[in-house]
Amino acid sequence: MKEIRLDKFLADMGKGSRSQVKQALKKGLVKVNGAAVKAPEQKIDPQTDQVSYDGELVSYQRFAYYMLNKPAGVVSATEDRKERTVLDLLGGEKAGGLFPVGRLDKDTEGLLLITNDGALAHRLLHPGKHVDKTYYAKLAGEVTPDMVRAFAQGLSIGDEKPTLPARLVVLESGAVSTVEITICEGRFHQIKRMAKAVGTEVLYLKRLAMGPLRLDPALAGGQYRALSETEKEQLLR
Ligand code: URA
Repeated sequence: MKEIRLDKFLADMGKGSRSQVKQALKKGLVKVNGAAVKAPEQKIDPQTDQVSYDGELVSYQRFAYYMLNKPAGVVSATEDRKERTVLDLLGGEKAGGLFPVGRLDKDTEGLLLITNDGALAHRLLHPGKHVDKTYYAKLAGEVTPDMVRAFAQGLSIGDEKPTLPARLVVLESGAVSTVEITICEGRFHQIKRMAKAVGTEVLYLKRLAMGPLRLDPALAGGQYRALSETEKEQLLR
């Protein structure tokens, strides 16, 4: 395999930012094939060299997968000249080539998968795959049985075709209603436009699930973690 810089390898494997990794190298915490190495520019072959960090072997993984609880106010992009992006929340240089799988609006919160696995992203986002996405929402006013039926039938939201059937589950109906909505497409502002089409308005929106992946309730807004082995298996199978 192509050789890469030791500091890049460690940062890509989630051991910290490039500067944190350089500090660790300086302290002698990193060994390559049993010998301490302090030079961040040292080249290694990730598949054949044995790298340890603070006494633990760092195994090579081609792809990185994180779940982020996106807070409101950051954009789902890899870079932006004005706005803070979801990648800024991951420390900017955590791993090479990371990108968010799909987009949440700037004011939407919740589950965002961040990876550098393009094939997985393609599978999850492909319009023909109909991957379920579940959101918790607050809607203005009461939610009527007619609205639930309209969501279930599919709605005309100004696109060429109506939406596919969606599930609207009422948690509480009142002056501000709380609901769970599951859609299997990913159209621009889809939930907000569906809400508008039935005469209401989204006051708050948070994604709870995407395919088999559920937002970890232990993650506060802005926090992220690597996916567990089980979560990875469920997503990749
Ligand atoms: N639907 C929306 O309207 N906004 C989102 O961010 C996601 C789904």
